[in-house]
Amino acid sequence: MRIDAAILTISDKGSKGEREDVSGATARRILEGSGFRIQLYCIVPDEVEEIKKKLVEWSDSLCMPLIVTTGGTGVSDRDVTPEATGAVLEKELPGFGEAMRASGLRLTPYAILSRGKAGIRKRSLIINLPGNPKAVEENLLVVLPILGHAIAKISGDREDCAHLREKV
Ligand code: MTE
Repeated sequence: MRIDAAILTISDKGSKGEREDVSGATARRILEGSGFRIQLYCIVPDEVEEIKKKLVEWSDSLCMPLIVTTGGTGVSDRDVTPEATGAVLEKELPGFGEAMRASGLRLTPYAILSRGKAGIRKRSLIINLPGNPKAVEENLLVVLPILGHAIAKISGDREDCAHLREKV
């Protein structure tokens, strides 16, 4: 059975149509290739409130099992994705970031610069990925093998989500 997922690209330029969203497309290709069905996709600028709003809507109202974000995890002024994500998470799952950074460090020392978080809000698993398309692929491949099990555990009984999902 395919699992529904959402992709939120966080990019000032992308949100203004000044940059093609290759990162979001990369996340889509990998997730779809692994049996996920992308139900929701959006680009927002690097603004805490806009990021929080989407994450809350997609978890609380639309009950998305998996929400993946790309971009805004680094160290520049405008990088606020981890702050926005941390503000809406109910439980943090630090192992995701730890595993992605540890694996990334074998490929590039720059992996240490991603501050991406992951965790649970309601019945949604939320994972921050860096914005570089290569980094999206490298990081997603690290966590893909455990996504199905993690989502099944987080989802529990999804009966109560059924009426919400019809809206998607
Ligand atoms: N992780 C992996 N595996 N591969 C990469 O190329 N790029 C790094 C890092 N994580 C990278 C990576 C770089 S250069 C930065 S600046 C940070 O992710 C943050 O990226 P972001 O601000 O686009 O989210």
